[in-house]
Amino acid sequence: MENFIEFRNVTKCFDDFVALDNISLCIPKGSFVTLLGPSGCGKTTLMRQLAGFSEPEEGDVFIDGQRMNGLPPFKRNTPLVFQEYALFPHMTVYENISYGLKLQKTPKEERDRRVAEMLEMFNLTGLEKRFPKQLSGGQQQRVAFARALIMGQEILLLDEPLSNLDAKLRVEVRTELRQIQQRLQITAMYVTHDQDEALSMSDIIAVMRKGRIEQLGTPWDIYFRPVNRFVADFVGTVNFLPGVVQSYNGKTMTVGYHNQPLTFDTKVNLDEGDRCIVMVRPECMTVREEGSGEGQLTGEIENYSFLGRYIRYFVRCNNHTLIVDDSNPGLTGAISGKVRIHLDLPKLHVLKDEGNAPD
Ligand SMILES: Nc1ncnc2c1ncn2[C@@H]1O[C@H](COP(=O)(O)OP(=O)(O)OP(=O)(O)O)[C@@H](O)[C@H]1O
Ligand SMILES: [Mg+2]
Repeated sequence: MENFIEFRNVTKCFDDFVALDNISLCIPKGSFVTLLGPSGCGKTTLMRQLAGFSEPEEGDVFIDGQRMNGLPPFKRNTPLVFQEYALFPHMTVYENISYGLKLQKTPKEERDRRVAEMLEMFNLTGLEKRFPKQLSGGQQQRVAFARALIMGQEILLLDEPLSNLDAKLRVEVRTELRQIQQRLQITAMYVTHDQDEALSMSDIIAVMRKGRIEQLGTPWDIYFRPVNRFVADFVGTVNFLPGVVQSYNGKTMTVGYHNQPLTFDTKVNLDEGDRCIVMVRPECMTVREEGSGEGQLTGEIENYSFLGRYIRYFVRCNNHTLIVDDSNPGLTGAISGKVRIHLDLPKLHVLKDEGNAPD
């Protein structure tokens, strides 16, 4: 796919603090890219370099092959929607959405037609005469999206646009937003703290930390094949089993974990004798009262929490507590006592042991 947005070696400093550290990132046309990372890692700053609200000290920003450095925001056509809806409070929904068209002196009939299209697309039909304070949070945010897209922009920047909404509404609006982005083939750059949102909406996720991109990949890569502990930990719940590589032929690896060999296929830069960490997600294990054979460990249930659709078990195993999610809880209760933990071997992933866990 053709690259539409490109950051090339972008560095941004605030005095001697490096907020973006030599970032390079290519975004294909029509894709939905999410920046995910802890507070202060540079997500908003990166987006502002693209929108033109801030200029990098070094590096270049391109849109559709054109260098954007130095261009003011209104010449970049990169509308930005924030967490605060930022609607004009004294204007109706119709006036808010059509504001850009009015500035351009678009004739009334065309304005009416395009606003009607937007109202329909964002499920706002009938609300055009209301003022923002007469709308729910979800409706206000939909008006903000409609206002951002009415000029036919090809790029949409979204900085935590759903974080003021309650959990159920977030899911609803994110699904709508994703459908509209796909239908209109808009290239979207999205910032969130919410990993579910990132996994469910994105074509590509960039996990950021301290002004750098730690990993760029599909939701599947990020979730199942994180490049390090930081990414593994940041996205989802994870167990780490420390071990030593016993054998590796470039395809199949055996890791010794407390004298228990775990054999699985993997592609990593590790050699026999290296210390490593086997990563396993809670849903990639099951607990059973019995069992024997490969890919099993022995443990004892310490605790559990029943959540209806699954049970989360805390299982003591070789001086660690493993988190195991059973997605098919029994009708009458949890299991207890000594158990066998069955590992879904193809889903194991191995990481280099970097010593202490990163902050
Ligand atoms: N105008 C500024 N002057 C000085 N420092 C700034 C400025 N803007 C951002 N920073 C610093 O740059 C770093 C990155 O900020 P940024 O707003 O990009 O983080 P973020 O990843 O968006 O975080 P959050 O998830 O909390 O929104 C932070 O340490 C922040 O304090
Ligand atoms: Mg931010």
